Amino acid sequence: MTENDEQVDVTSFDVSRPTIARVYDALLGGKDNFAADREGAAAYLKYVPNAGDCAKENRQALVKGVKYMASKGIDQFLDIGAGLPTMENTHQAAQSINPDAKVVYVDNDPIVLAHGRALLAKDQSTTVVTADLRNPQDILDHPDVKAMLDFTRPIGLMTVGLHMHFHDDEQPDEWVRTLLDACPSGSYLFITDFVDTGEPLQKGMEQAGLESLGNGWIRTPERITEHFLGLPLEPPGLDFLARWFPSEPDREVPAAEDLEPYQRILMGGIARKP
Ligand SMILES: C[S@@+](CC[C@H](N)C(=O)[O-])C[C@H]1O[C@@H](n2cnc3c(N)ncnc32)[C@H](O)[C@@H]1O
Repeated sequence: MTENDEQVDVTSFDVSRPTIARVYDALLGGKDNFAADREGAAAYLKYVPNAGDCAKENRQALVKGVKYMASKGIDQFLDIGAGLPTMENTHQAAQSINPDAKVVYVDNDPIVLAHGRALLAKDQSTTVVTADLRNPQDILDHPDVKAMLDFTRPIGLMTVGLHMHFHDDEQPDEWVRTLLDACPSGSYLFITDFVDTGEPLQKGMEQAGLESLGNGWIRTPERITEHFLGLPLEPPGLDFLARWFPSEPDREVPAAEDLEPYQRILMGGIARKP
């Protein structure tokens, strides 16, 4: 039990089926999940024994990316597919660089709102909204989004660990385009996604996702690059997360072939809107 549990009415959630947010929480070693979610996590571990480490690397990449954007002067963030609160969250990473940074968390799983509200009750510069990336205009029109973010100034737009949950047929890039069009010059777009460079473990990750959640597709680096909608990527470009240090572009990193296979499952990148 976490201290938030007493404020979350779990009877309002369908706990008989796994959700993305709760399975990810289980993989991260969190406690905001139920038996069905732990079964979902077990399916991941069956195909990718280091799936928990993949989740942690993704989370560390989230912090690296947020701190990078904050160091570039971004002081307002729109974090779509935010997930359940965990070790270091976007607002904590951003506010470690700029204490005045504002963050709107968006997730379509209402459990994120329930837990987030408890966590952020006293934080005036952070809010959580239940909304779906599939309806980007609803996100932009949401009163809490409009109250917190000033779309005349640059925004850090984030879809971290999210695109894999949409099939290409749904054209997820078009939803992001709607959001990006609303963000002014100087805004950033930060994405991580499952990659397909032909390795069996990458295919295993996809298999696990399809088995447990019904989604979780892998994509070629070329296809992931298209998520950035033609915007120029900041150094080091799109790379495996263990090699991706946007704040330290000169840092020596291992060759891709020297990474553990599980470290070649997720890639990330940040682009800037000129
Ligand atoms: C794998 S978690 C990633 C969490 C966090 N961004 C991270 O990288 O650590 C994906 C999150 O996206 C949310 N999500 C899935 N589909 C969504 C949608 N259509 N709109 C908004 N959020 C969505 C899930 O509920 C889940 O919390």
